[in-house]
Amino acid sequence: MLEDVFEETYGSPPTLLVRAPGRVNLIGEHIDYNGLPVFPMALQREVRLVLRPRDDQTVRLRSNDDRFAPIDFEIEQEIEPWEKGSWGNYAKAPAQELAQRFAIRRGFDGVLQSDIPVAAGLSSSSAIVNAVGLALAHINEVSTEPRTLAGVMADAEQYVGTQGGGMDQAISLGARDRCAAKITFHPLRLRHVLVPDDWCFIVADSGEVAEKSGALRDAYNQRRNECDEALRIMTRHLATQNITTQPDTTYPDLCSAIDAGTLIKIAEQVLQGSLLRRFRHAVTEAARVEEAVGRMLAADLQGFGALMADSHESLRIDYHVSTPALDELVAVATKGGAAGARLTGAGFGGCVVALANRSTVGEVLETLVTEYFGQRDRTGRREEQLFEATPCRGASIREI
Ligand code: GLA
Repeated sequence: MLEDVFEETYGSPPTLLVRAPGRVNLIGEHIDYNGLPVFPMALQREVRLVLRPRDDQTVRLRSNDDRFAPIDFEIEQEIEPWEKGSWGNYAKAPAQELAQRFAIRRGFDGVLQSDIPVAAGLSSSSAIVNAVGLALAHINEVSTEPRTLAGVMADAEQYVGTQGGGMDQAISLGARDRCAAKITFHPLRLRHVLVPDDWCFIVADSGEVAEKSGALRDAYNQRRNECDEALRIMTRHLATQNITTQPDTTYPDLCSAIDAGTLIKIAEQVLQGSLLRRFRHAVTEAARVEEAVGRMLAADLQGFGALMADSHESLRIDYHVSTPALDELVAVATKGGAAGARLTGAGFGGCVVALANRSTVGEVLETLVTEYFGQRDRTGRREEQLFEATPCRGASIREI
C-alpha cells in the first residue's frame, strides 16, 4: 500500500490522497496548440499521490517505481530544472508556476505511483503535473476549480520545454465519469459527451518509446512552429484578398469564417511542402472533431470509426508523426474488425486507439495479440500493452 510506503519513508502517515488520470485522445490530434477543438477521454490508468503538507517550502517526492529516483526541491519563483528528461521536472513545473502566480510557500512530503504506461502517448507526464499541481494548490489555498487549474497547469508544463497545448491537463482535471469531452480553448470549455455503453476503445502500445521531454520535444515544437508560420502566410494572403483583415487571426477564426474545403483550395495555391501539409492536417482534423462529436451523440460507431481512420491517414501523410509500428497496429486492429483506429497522443511511437463494439471487441483484441504482440519478442506485461480504456472522471483530492 502506498500509505505504508509513505509511513516507512517519512515516519508518520499521509493525510491527503490525490489521483490524476491519464487520457486517450479519441480524435483531434496536434491541433490543441492551434486553439482548435479536441475530443479525448480520461482513462482508468492514473497517478496516485499520498502526501502530508509541510510548514516550509520543501517538496520531497518518492515514486514506488525504481526507475524514478527520489527528488527534493524548494518552491521558488525560479526553480532550476534538472537535466532534460528527468521526471522530477514534471513536479517542479507546477511548483514554479504556482509560486510565480500565487506566491505559494508550502510544500509537502509525498509518495506517488502510476499505472499509466510511460512515454506512450497517454499523458503519464501531465498526470504527474496535475497531481502535484492539485496537491500544491489545495494545501496553499489556491483555486482547484478544474478549468482554472487546467489553464495554470498547461502553462506550467511548458517548463519541460515541449510547447504543448492544453488538452492533457484539461481532460485529466475536468473529465466526467463515462464521458469523453469536446474541449475548446480560449476560453477553455469542456462539453461532456456520454460514451455509448456498447462502444469499446482499445489502447494498444507499439512498444516504441515517445518521451515527451526527450527527442520528441524538438519534432513536436517544430510542427507547432510550422503551423504558426502557415497561419501567418495564409492570413497575410487572405488580407490582400480582403477576405479576413485582422492581423491576429487565429486558426479557429479562419475555420469559422471559411469552410474547410475552400480553405484548403486557397492553401494549395499559397503554401508549399510541409507548411501546406501541416495546415491541411490542422483544418481537416478540426472538421473531423466537429463531426465526431455528432457521431458519438448519434451512437454512430461506424461513422466515428471512419473519422478515426481518416485522422490517422492525415497524421501519417500530412503531419508526419506516425511510425511503421503505429501504422501496423492500425492495420491489424482494422483487419480484426475495429470500426477505426488511429495513433493517439503526440505520435513518434506510443499507442494507437481502436474502436469496436462490445460484441466484436474480443476478436479485435485477439487479432492484435496474434498478429502484432505475438510476433514480437516483448518483455513488458501484456495488460500494460493492450487494454480497454474506460472513460473515467477527472482528478480529485481527499483527506485520508
Ligand atoms: C501532447 C501534448 C498535447 C497535444 C498532443 C497531440 O500530448 O501535450 O497538448 O498537443 O501531444 O495532440
